[in-house]
Amino acid sequence: MTLVIQQATNDKINQAADCLQSGAVVAFPTETVYGLGGDATNSDAVLKIYKIKSRPEFNPLIVHISEPHDIYKFCEVSDHAERLMAAFWPGPLSLVLPLADNPKITISDVVTAGLQTVAVRCPEHRTARDLISKAGVPLAAPSANISGNISPTTSAHVMSAFEGEPEQPDMILSDGAATKGLESTIVDVSGHAPRILRYGHILKEHIEEVLSCSVLTPEGEENIKSPGQLKRHYATETPLRLNAVDVKSGEALLAFGSLSFMASEDYKGAKDMPEHLVCNLSAQGDLTEAARSLFKAMHQLDQLDVPSIAVMPIPMDGLGYAINDRLQRAATPKEKDM
Ligand code: TXA
Ligand code: MG
Repeated sequence: MTLVIQQATNDKINQAADCLQSGAVVAFPTETVYGLGGDATNSDAVLKIYKIKSRPEFNPLIVHISEPHDIYKFCEVSDHAERLMAAFWPGPLSLVLPLADNPKITISDVVTAGLQTVAVRCPEHRTARDLISKAGVPLAAPSANISGNISPTTSAHVMSAFEGEPEQPDMILSDGAATKGLESTIVDVSGHAPRILRYGHILKEHIEEVLSCSVLTPEGEENIKSPGQLKRHYATETPLRLNAVDVKSGEALLAFGSLSFMASEDYKGAKDMPEHLVCNLSAQGDLTEAARSLFKAMHQLDQLDVPSIAVMPIPMDGLGYAINDRLQRAATPKEKDM
């Protein structure tokens, strides 16, 4: 089978929705990253997603819905969840909630890896919502990459991830580059104190303002609650050297902000390095722009034949938490992978 990218016209979205109804797996755009979707009520379809991604089956998937109120069909929705839904949905926020005792829709336990909770997201992206609504079922969708590798923000990234692989998506729908560029913020509101399990565009301070209470963060957690948050993830093949203050001989540079004070062993300064060796996430030092370009820059620099990639420091502020989280995991050596 040859994998092809289909532009997300109405016809192709209808075709993709039909495929999903018959248990196929479709890669589709969202505002965060491209997802690899399958009918969340169909265990065979969901197993296919795990297989295509080579994803460990203990790592549960996020269920995507087209309308916020669809969540009531399979979750016990807490007061905290309702407030966050009203403030941030549709958008880049996933909520972890208990499964309903008497659901109208039964989510496959392959999606939840047997947990009593489920992560749910209502994306903002027009094509994503259209596709889910036409499929008529919630879609389980992890990021459309091989497990542990860099997440895809374009359909070309999805294509290069699965080209030549024995297991492939049945279809790739394309609709531009992801505008946010980092996976959704995940908040556990299944009981007790709300906790952020994964940093993303919706910030801790935004969540605390809406809930009028303090929110726990992932640091120091044993990660029992978010089994998918492996230490090594989003990884480039080329090692990353974080918080670099200079560029060593032969290295490429993942930059942030001005290069004026960045030293280089091979050139007069980092600003004199050849263009192809440098990706600047945001020359202006803008974290929103940096989040949008991070995975694309990592994909690009990873194509080069260099011993390592120097990464300039990114401030731990606002979106900086989400960006540094991805960089830390990407820089974790393979041995620490479990
Ligand atoms: O932005 C996103 O969230 C993207 C797009 C496609 O929507 N999806 C995504 O999925 O990032 P994935 O599979 O790459 O990440 C899902 C994360 C994993 O860390 C998993 O452990 C966590 O969600 N998760 C899923 N269900 C959970 C649950 N019941 N409790 C705690 N964590 C859960
Ligand atoms: Mg992922």
